Amino acid sequence: MLSVLAGRKAAMPPVWMMRQAGRYLPEYRDLRSRYPTFLDLCYTPEAACEVTLQPIRRFGFDAAILFSDILVVPDALGQQVAFEAGEGPKLDAIESSEGLGGLKPDGAVDRLQPVFETVERVREGLPTETTLLGFCGAPWTVATYMVAGRGTPDQRPARVLAYRDPELFQALIDILVETSTAYLVRQLESGADAVQIFDTWAGVLDQRGFERWVIEPTRRIVEAVRSARPDARIIGFPKAVGLRAERYIAGTGIDALGLDWTVPLDVARDRLQSRLPVQGNLDPLALLAGGRALDQGVEAILEALGAGPLVFNLGHGILPETPIAHVEQMLKRVRGTAG
Ligand code: CP3
Repeated sequence: MLSVLAGRKAAMPPVWMMRQAGRYLPEYRDLRSRYPTFLDLCYTPEAACEVTLQPIRRFGFDAAILFSDILVVPDALGQQVAFEAGEGPKLDAIESSEGLGGLKPDGAVDRLQPVFETVERVREGLPTETTLLGFCGAPWTVATYMVAGRGTPDQRPARVLAYRDPELFQALIDILVETSTAYLVRQLESGADAVQIFDTWAGVLDQRGFERWVIEPTRRIVEAVRSARPDARIIGFPKAVGLRAERYIAGTGIDALGLDWTVPLDVARDRLQSRLPVQGNLDPLALLAGGRALDQGVEAILEALGAGPLVFNLGHGILPETPIAHVEQMLKRVRGTAG
């Protein structure tokens, strides 16, 4: 995995899945039921370590991703964050300078000490050949939840605030750039081998917004993380950005690009993988459906991207209702042992 992130092609692509620890696994549901809230689980290093390792033991993925959430950053900044069963995240929405003034950036990263302890434990418990990935949410995506106070279909509250009061919105983004940078550096210091920046909502902004709220904050994080950890490998995952992926590569300086499932494979090969390693991009619904759709999806990716640096992954997180047998089928195909 690390060799691919450094730009080399692997004989067999390394493979992991976004959301590989989670509700599709009975061992996860079992452990989860012993913690009152999702954040309790995230902040208990022993349990978060166990959950991180579960999919590695079961499937032998080439990378483990730290079990946590992008919304631990607003939580550490002092915003109320809760995950309600079946409803997704709920936060105290930040709508004005009062809300912003309530955030406590000083010492925020220290409040994430349990996460760093999880990283240390996982690194100790992981086979040496398995890469440990840390992560954070990109400032724009995290800000959409902080401003709306919940997940929204079109990120409208954050987009409107960014138009109405760009200075306020910039101040929020600046706090997230600083905190996320320090957070990633501490994960790398604690034993993460590489990190991924999740920008799930990067696709909804107009051109100016995309430059100001996606490209520029991500560029600042990449630059600052590299100045602290010069050999850090950073994967960017800007979801649903279409042709702007090229601008994202050039403008942010990330080492590798995560592709969602809508990116055409010929474009990925000729215009993206020609510049940097790519990761992706099986449709999570093809994995859910299984059968021929799954086999064809895997084959198409290997055929188009297998000759260059490729990390095999999904185009977004695995869905909780996905059968485990389909994950096994996917792995057999990727690793070339399918009949
Ligand atoms: O990938 C992994 O296995 C590592 C852990 C991880 C989680 N969330 C665990 C989680 C990672 C990397 C994330 C990232 C994340 N979280 C993103 C960016 C990637 C993406 O999926 O778009 C976003 C937008 C979030 C915010 C978030 N967290 C939402 C909207 C929800 C509710 C929806 C849902 O899937 O439940 C969560 C909760 C969450 N994060 C769960 C897990 C395993 C489920 C909580 C539970 O088990 O009770």
